[in-house]
Amino acid sequence: MVNALRYIGAIDQGTTSTRFIVFDTEGKIVSSYQKEVDVSYPQSGYVEHDPCGLFEDVKECIDEVLKDMEANGLDYELIEAIGLTNQRETTVVWDSTTGKPLHSAIVWSDVRTSELAAKYNALPEAEYVRKTTGLNISSYFFAVKLRWLLENVPDVRTAKEAGTLMAGTVDSWLLYNFSGGKDGGIHVTDASNASRYLLIDIRKLEYDPALIKFFGVEGIQLPKIVSSAEKYCMLGFGKLQNCPVSGCLGDQSAALVGQKAFKVGQCKATYGTGAFILYNTGNEPVMSSNGLLTTVGYHFKGMKPVYALEGSIAVAGSALQWAKDRMGLIQDAKDVGPLAASVPDTGGVVFVTGFSGLFAPYWIDSVRGTVFGITSFTTKAHIVRALVEAICFQTDAIMISMSADAASTGEPGAGEVKELRVDGGMSASDEICQIQADILGFPLLRPLMKESSAFGAALAAGIGAGVWNSIDELDHVSAYNVTRFESTSTKAERSSKLQLWDKAVRLATGWTT
Ligand code: G3P
Repeated sequence: MVNALRYIGAIDQGTTSTRFIVFDTEGKIVSSYQKEVDVSYPQSGYVEHDPCGLFEDVKECIDEVLKDMEANGLDYELIEAIGLTNQRETTVVWDSTTGKPLHSAIVWSDVRTSELAAKYNALPEAEYVRKTTGLNISSYFFAVKLRWLLENVPDVRTAKEAGTLMAGTVDSWLLYNFSGGKDGGIHVTDASNASRYLLIDIRKLEYDPALIKFFGVEGIQLPKIVSSAEKYCMLGFGKLQNCPVSGCLGDQSAALVGQKAFKVGQCKATYGTGAFILYNTGNEPVMSSNGLLTTVGYHFKGMKPVYALEGSIAVAGSALQWAKDRMGLIQDAKDVGPLAASVPDTGGVVFVTGFSGLFAPYWIDSVRGTVFGITSFTTKAHIVRALVEAICFQTDAIMISMSADAASTGEPGAGEVKELRVDGGMSASDEICQIQADILGFPLLRPLMKESSAFGAALAAGIGAGVWNSIDELDHVSAYNVTRFESTSTKAERSSKLQLWDKAVRLATGWTT
């Protein structure tokens, strides 16, 4: 047994917030600090961060936690390891001679590259890309964003010509800065983040030269692909200078680990800015025939990689944010659940929340937000409920695809989804969880430990630093205590609602201005 008086820190750098959370080795939170991330929207469809700001935010969060620990008489020197989890796909470019960014970070949800992605998709090689990477060619992924930077930012091109262009996702950028930046910083990305680059062979977990050529990103310093749990570097700044950073996972993979979905067939949904559902398929990648992505769940050094099917929903919490900030339909995010549950249904309203196209399982870039069925009976409660249901219907459509893809493996019992583990902002609402369970037709499990991604990063860091040695040990770090939401709907109710949703998606498709 491990000594309980040891801590593990987790940095969670997300799209809307950065956090540092310290856990003890029984999985309890000892201290945490959160900072909102600056997001800029320079043009319609553009979403950016300042990469240096992200690093500064991490430093501030760590400082605040250490102050809090000191104030509470807790010894931060007992922090044995640090894990990092991050928003995936968000693309950073910088120069190796200065260590400084050459452009703002292009955020995963930015759709400036939609046309570029469509151009690549029309080429005969697109099928090779899909089969090799497990991903669609979409504005969502790293390679397309990197290509856009090369085509549109002269400084990026100049650095490429000089051989000094470095590129990576947020994990890469932060680990580079943690370990000294231009003065010898490491340049790595873990397998789960790498699986979102559109440049790697998902089976070999290596860059594929044909893909590098296809996207025209030769001659760029791309991060070395490493495991999700090993000692990458020491933190390199502040009071935790000698602390190893020994875990790294994209945030959705980290949530899979934090939710302890270690068995084949277990799945989780994280409702953040977007919503992301991952289904553990074990040591073999399963290629989807139903609009899902194949991704790396986690790959701990010395163990076989674990793969997942993923369904990504572009707009989840961001739709509720829109309802609050832009439409004034609610005062506070926590009003959403009670308002949605104040009416028994949407009164015939269906809201297709394709603010920037629809992701899985549809992958339709041309959809825009569309509301159907408004009458003089419609109230804001119906609209807000329809917004919530839109996210739940997309989750349902993804779960149906997952069952079909998993069943196609022919493994006994594959495809039988019995429950969905949930976390993230929206899942804090009992009402929303109930609406989701009713739309799905099976139970939702919401763990008491709400910080699934940070917890997953801490577990990975513990494995990387040798605090734990196996997945089995991770499973026992803390009890998986949950609140269960049972489904109360009938099959007939579910299928007629889903039909209406499908019809709305069809009608919303193809909108152009
Ligand atoms: O793929 C994007 C995802 O990793 C972003 O997650 O929680 O920062 O919205 P989040």
